[in-house]
Amino acid sequence: MKHDKELIYLDHAATSWPKPPEVLEAVMKAMQEEAANPGRGSHQMAVKASRVLFDTRKQLAGLFKIKNPNDIAFSLNTTGALNLAIKGYLKTGDHVIATAVEHNSVRRPLEYLKRTRGIEVAYIETDSEGHLDASRVREAIRPNTTLIVANHSSNLLGSILPIADLGDIARSHNLRLLVDAAQSAGLLDIDVRGMGIDMLAFPGHKGLLGPQGTGGLYISPEVDLEPHMHGGTGSQSEAPDQPSIRPDRYEAGTQNTPGLGGLRAGVAFVREQSVSRIYEHEWQLSQLMIEGLSRINGVRLLGPHAGQPRTGIVSFLVGQADPSETAFILDQHYGIAVRSGFHCTPQAHQCAGTSDTGAVRASVGCFTTKEEVEALVSAVREISLHY
Ligand code: ALA
Repeated sequence: MKHDKELIYLDHAATSWPKPPEVLEAVMKAMQEEAANPGRGSHQMAVKASRVLFDTRKQLAGLFKIKNPNDIAFSLNTTGALNLAIKGYLKTGDHVIATAVEHNSVRRPLEYLKRTRGIEVAYIETDSEGHLDASRVREAIRPNTTLIVANHSSNLLGSILPIADLGDIARSHNLRLLVDAAQSAGLLDIDVRGMGIDMLAFPGHKGLLGPQGTGGLYISPEVDLEPHMHGGTGSQSEAPDQPSIRPDRYEAGTQNTPGLGGLRAGVAFVREQSVSRIYEHEWQLSQLMIEGLSRINGVRLLGPHAGQPRTGIVSFLVGQADPSETAFILDQHYGIAVRSGFHCTPQAHQCAGTSDTGAVRASVGCFTTKEEVEALVSAVREISLHY
């Protein structure tokens, strides 16, 4: 898994890079040979384009143990998928249980529906490392609760949430479970039926190694969402309403065939490597980073402590240094790309006690090497001497 790269890229939680060569080739092939409009014609190239979309759905269905690939609706990103799920499902008077480590892509649609549709939301806090006690979710259920929303892993803390337990709770109380897999797709095993997941929002451009502008939502056949986009689907054209057949119901307009072709190759790569091998690789690197950073005076680490399960995200603070300054120095002086600030998850900072400061976030990917992690640790050690 080696690539020539000068940049030390530790921002995989935002977008993975580099992509496997197969992904780049698949995008090019879709642009050159499968470049017509999928689902809009019956000529040979249109059929090839439709095949790209179907094959991508099939790869994703295999990865997430989804029975019918047509229960996956493509979106631009996880945010689009979460908006479809949240706005398409919730009705006036509904009560939702979410966690305090949700990304703004969950929190903002929920807050918007609080104002516009009169829904109610309870955010359940985690401990300071980002661990959720599922029994607190059960205790928060009310007669009007209809939905539980949780991310599989915090994009700030790297903690892993007990999704299968939430699935059991949802099933036993006849609620729906929506999971934000932005940080887990391609890294943690996901079995939608085994884990009781009714809706799964996932990005194409992170752990699945596809291009930006790709992602999707799995919608259980037992859930009917109100479509949030209306328009042409190439099917039932005479009908004034959005078709009821899937995936057309949730995919108005021309799809991103080149991006989805790339995503198909990314998912195939992940499946060939195996999710568990990628997790093991990233976990080992996160432990190396934690071990190295924890030896530096003044460094404060966030998230699960050493030895615990976590994704490849390690957030930290260097003494009194402003996280954006640390990230700037890492980038400009050391050629190391990390993210800093509040990471679109203000309530997770409250749980971690970093609401006033934000944090630096380094995140590894399947191509990250031990040497790159050591370079980060060494750079942070030098920076820490100035604070
Ligand atoms: N949601 C992505 C992140 O956490 C972009 O960086």
